[in-house]
Amino acid sequence: MPIPKPELYPPFNVVRLSHVDLGVKDLLASKAFYVDLLGLQITDETADRIYLRAMEERGHHSVILSKSPSAQVNCLGFKVFSEQDLDKAARYFSTVGLEFKWGAEPHMGRILRVQDPHGIPLVFYFRMDREKTIHQQFELYRGARPLRIDHFNCFSPDVQASADFYNFLGFRTTEYTEDEITKSLWAIWMHRKGNIHDMAFTNGVGPRLHHIAFWVANPIHIIDLLDIMSTTGYLDNIERGPGRHGISNAFFLYIRDPDKHRIEIYSSDYQTVDPDHEPLKWDLKDPQRQTLWGAPAPRSWFEEGSVFKDLPTREPVLRAQPIVAP
Ligand SMILES: [Fe+2]
Repeated sequence: MPIPKPELYPPFNVVRLSHVDLGVKDLLASKAFYVDLLGLQITDETADRIYLRAMEERGHHSVILSKSPSAQVNCLGFKVFSEQDLDKAARYFSTVGLEFKWGAEPHMGRILRVQDPHGIPLVFYFRMDREKTIHQQFELYRGARPLRIDHFNCFSPDVQASADFYNFLGFRTTEYTEDEITKSLWAIWMHRKGNIHDMAFTNGVGPRLHHIAFWVANPIHIIDLLDIMSTTGYLDNIERGPGRHGISNAFFLYIRDPDKHRIEIYSSDYQTVDPDHEPLKWDLKDPQRQTLWGAPAPRSWFEEGSVFKDLPTREPVLRAQPIVAP
């Protein structure tokens, strides 16, 4: 199945992914994980919510930890280019028959809530409180020294349908995995901000969030985080890596938070901003697709993910499976 032709003049202008609202059962345990261990900075804290940003981020938050009776993902947030783009988004969703709602959240201007065709809860906004820069306050750096949120990766029950929807919103494909037998799309990496991806989809029971990634300047910060995790009681939270992906060329580590939400620490991908950038194709059975050095991912990596709030999942349309560690 061919990947969709890039939509260079989308109906509204998404700048980048922005933030995630994570439902967590134990706010204190999550605070210890995201703040003390990972190194995110608190920008606001209430009885049931903690707002966090990474070190170079000027927007108020890229993570909201929301106290919740069960582990879930409340929404994925995207920043648009202007207030007018929000109005254009509303007109577009009306045209294609997707219900949307205007809303308001602390620290943000008006927001537009919509669910993608599989039900993933999305938030689009333009205005968020701006914070003073702490990028060069190096005394505040700790843990993985996370600089910014980089991407979301979701399980999709129909990767082709997900790709078609986000492609029409202007997300451009950088790399993709095809099942060589059926020629079906098995996974896709799509961007707005000029690197490998803002959003990726992987074939699997879904929709579910597979992981959220934070960008770090240097792979050594990943090694430092592993040393800290393995000596402070977080050994069991290390799931996969460190390693280098074939796809994206990124140096990676996957860890699980106290609610099993998966976090990737990610470094060293590449620029893709050219409008005629050619996507790279990978064979599903190529072991270097997952890890350039050949090690397969564990089974949990292909099977476990975070549910979205109140959203049922379904089996994928495609049965093909990659090489999995025994
Ligand atoms: Fe990732």
